[in-house]
Amino acid sequence: MRLEGKRALITGAAGALGSVIAEALAAEGADVAGLDLNAEGLERTAATVRAHGRRAYSASADLTDFDAVQAAVGGVLDDWGGIDILLNGAGGGAVSFFHEMSYETWSTQIDRNLNSVFNVTRAVLPSMLDQESGRIINIASVAAIAGGRLVRGATAYAAAKAGVVGLTKALAIEVADRGITVNCLAPGAQGTGARDNDTPERREALLAQIPTRKLGEPQHLAQTVVFLAAPESENITGVILPLDGGHSI
Ligand SMILES: NC(=O)c1ccc[n+]([C@@H]2O[C@H](COP(=O)([O-])OP(=O)(O)OC[C@H]3O[C@@H](n4cnc5c(N)ncnc54)[C@H](O)[C@@H]3O)[C@@H](O)[C@H]2O)c1
Repeated sequence: MRLEGKRALITGAAGALGSVIAEALAAEGADVAGLDLNAEGLERTAATVRAHGRRAYSASADLTDFDAVQAAVGGVLDDWGGIDILLNGAGGGAVSFFHEMSYETWSTQIDRNLNSVFNVTRAVLPSMLDQESGRIINIASVAAIAGGRLVRGATAYAAAKAGVVGLTKALAIEVADRGITVNCLAPGAQGTGARDNDTPERREALLAQIPTRKLGEPQHLAQTVVFLAAPESENITGVILPLDGGHSI
């Protein structure tokens, strides 16, 4: 129980990775609040958290809406009195080739993958500064550091996720002497349900880009989040950690 009594807020908690991370944090003793657009999925995640005997809180909100996020995070802070761990996991890509990309596609990707991280972190950080402690863990993507070789047509997504990488490093420095760490995972392709419909050709093309020839295991990613949230990581900050089977080497 490395996270006994800790209060975690997870964005994208209804999603494939967020739900696995929520359960892993709860299994280590953390209470988990989920923020997501998907209210039904949030309830499924909350049930797994409660099954571990921990408190769960669900708030359905569009994370691209600054005011809605302030209200949703305010609800968690009112109820729980603070947040110890923030996992910014909401996001997702859209394939569009740059020469034909609309401004709307571009800005939607920046909103979903970067502005959402600003909105949530901005809402949570003052309380972490007050309590002089906190762990912020962002999920970017290997696309942020190695371009879009796994998925062509990912320039907007890669740019947004590279923004998350820059935000991570700059914020890590800004709050380093205030008891708060800020780190970032840069996953390669993960073995989530989204990959179930890969044709054999598509799967082989994907694996050919990954030196280990393995998709990421969501449970392993979740244990990396546990590690970055645990006491032994108090002096690790500003790290961008690829979980990509060597794809970005
Ligand atoms: N799965 C992968 O292979 C992979 C690889 C690299 C990076 N990532 C990143 O990991 C994170 C989680 O990915 P996943 O595979 O679990 O995706 P997912 O689609 O299963 O989950 C993403 C969740 O974010 C939520 N979300 C999206 N936009 C939102 C908004 N505006 N407001 C509120 N909620 C919103 C969705 O409702 C969904 O529940 C994403 O940031 C993704 O970019 C995933």
